[in-house]
Amino acid sequence: MGVQRTSHKNMSWLVLAFMIGAVTVLNACSPKIEVPTSSAKPFTCPECETLVCPVPESYQDLWFTSAHADAEAEAFTHWNEDDPQEIPVDCAKCHSRPGLIDFLGIDGTTINQVDNSAKTGTTITCYVCHNEAFEDLASVVFPSGSTLRLLGPEVRCILCHQGRASTSTVDKAIAELALVDLDVPSTELEFINSHSTSAATPFGTEVQGAYQYAGNTYKGRFNRGEDFFSCLDCHNQHSLELKFETCGECHTFTGTDPRDIRVDTTDYDGDGDISEGIAYEISALQETLYSTIKAYSVQIVGIPIAYDLETHPYYFIDTNNNGLIDLEENLSDNAYNAWTPRLLRAAYNYNYLTHDPGAYAHNSDYVLQILYDSIDNLGGDVTGMSRP
Ligand code: HEC
Ligand code: HEC
Ligand code: HEC
Ligand code: HEC
Ligand code: HEC
Repeated sequence: MGVQRTSHKNMSWLVLAFMIGAVTVLNACSPKIEVPTSSAKPFTCPECETLVCPVPESYQDLWFTSAHADAEAEAFTHWNEDDPQEIPVDCAKCHSRPGLIDFLGIDGTTINQVDNSAKTGTTITCYVCHNEAFEDLASVVFPSGSTLRLLGPEVRCILCHQGRASTSTVDKAIAELALVDLDVPSTELEFINSHSTSAATPFGTEVQGAYQYAGNTYKGRFNRGEDFFSCLDCHNQHSLELKFETCGECHTFTGTDPRDIRVDTTDYDGDGDISEGIAYEISALQETLYSTIKAYSVQIVGIPIAYDLETHPYYFIDTNNNGLIDLEENLSDNAYNAWTPRLLRAAYNYNYLTHDPGAYAHNSDYVLQILYDSIDNLGGDVTGMSRP
């Protein structure tokens, strides 16, 4: 959620930062990095139209193809119909240029918090990632309160992709209502959305992004041999595309589908197939978790539930119990409202998984543990399955 700076916490730095900020805004699209001048070409910076700076055309081209530059995306247009038309303080940090600049304190406001709502219509442009604040930013605070230190340039990615909740968020909600019986529904208990969690999964229990069941142990960061991979080892920082050319150095890889990669020889889903990619072991457990959630809602709560990733808040009452969210069920006043503590925990985890489509590569062990425990805790059948 927050950022911790290792130095420069005092006021004089703030003033200095503001002055540098003012200068840097004038140079907003020229990152303070060596740029090979031979390939440099004048380029109009997306956020400071009056400026022309020498930046290799290829960087802009790569960025332009990315989701970060997609001005039409729901992630950037979601607030366009709101009145007033602005991105609220809660959402602005990760969904706009001014929001992140505000969070970093470059605009002269408090560091580590968003002070003002942001105007709509911006995307994740060059200056969002190339600004003076990132030069000495080496740590990030997660929603769990855990701080990760000594991060490199991927600190940017983690700030926005860290998710918005954790084990403690879920437990706090249950504790605040003093709900002691895990199987009794409460109309006051609300669903908790982890939001996009791709930068939480790689660190596993160090940041507790998923719901972790008390008494069990969980994988920490997913090291590969001696190394921990940063986001930038696999994703190009500008196009965001996967660096497929590198995977084959260590994996049997056809060059097209990372879902086919597998290192482990345990049959986690118990289907007898240990040649399928690890992504398929995970999907199988994910499907079992979903059917277990539905069965629990019918058998224990008596109010059927179903999930629709396309519509917030995702879980709705399946009024006709056909296992699907029909058009007339897909309404905010039909949002699921009979959460038991046990159901909330498992449903949080199912939604966590759907919000990290790269979980199988980010930390397969952690998510297999999370899935196994969720199914087990909800009373599902884990016969034949294995927990890493
Ligand atoms: C910590 C950063 C962060 C915060 C805060 C945040 N989001 Fe997001 N949000 C993201 C990221 C990252 C994505 C992109 C997910 C992806 O495509 O992998 C996203 C995607 C979305 C999307 C696109 C559709 C979807 O569900 O994926 C919507 C809509 C959205 N967020 C709404 C909100 C709202 C509303 C708020 C405030 C209540 C908010 N977000 C706060 C990081 C954040
Ligand atoms: C999502 C974050 C992000 C955005 C947006 C972004 N960059 Fe980068 N850029 C990075 C990271 C991370 C690096 C590599 C790490 C470093 O050296 O800081 C980098 C490196 C660079 C480099 C140095 C080249 C190299 O390989 O060392 C240049 C030049 C650059 N970016 C230009 C741009 C331009 C121009 C834009 C906008 C069109 C842009 N960047 C947008 C994250 C970003
Ligand atoms: C200021 C917040 C912010 C920063 C910094 C940021 N992202 Fe994003 N990222 C987003 C949002 C918001 C989206 C969704 C955009 C969309 O849907 O078009 C997104 C989308 C993505 C996607 C595509 C997801 C999809 O659904 O296709 C990937 C991959 C990604 N980011 C990786 C990265 C990496 C790697 C970095 C660091 C180099 C990074 N992001 C830095 C906010 C951020
Ligand atoms: C070992 C390589 C690897 C590393 C390291 C890695 N990723 Fe990924 N990432 C993947 C793969 C593989 C996918 C799944 C892509 C797919 O199936 O389309 C993915 C998916 C994603 C997505 C969702 C893209 C989409 O299409 O919705 C986001 C966002 C993302 N990663 C962000 C990050 C961030 C942020 C980090 C660093 C904290 C990171 N990744 C580290 C390999 C990696
Ligand atoms: C330098 C070697 C190396 C490179 C390059 C590499 N990986 Fe890996 N990867 C590993 C190792 C080692 C593991 C196993 C870690 C463990 O289980 O302890 C692993 C595990 C995985 C897993 C989980 C497999 C399982 O059975 O749990 C996936 C998926 C994966 N990598 C995807 C990728 C993708 C996609 C790329 C390219 C973008 C990539 N890797 C590049 C070394 C590498």
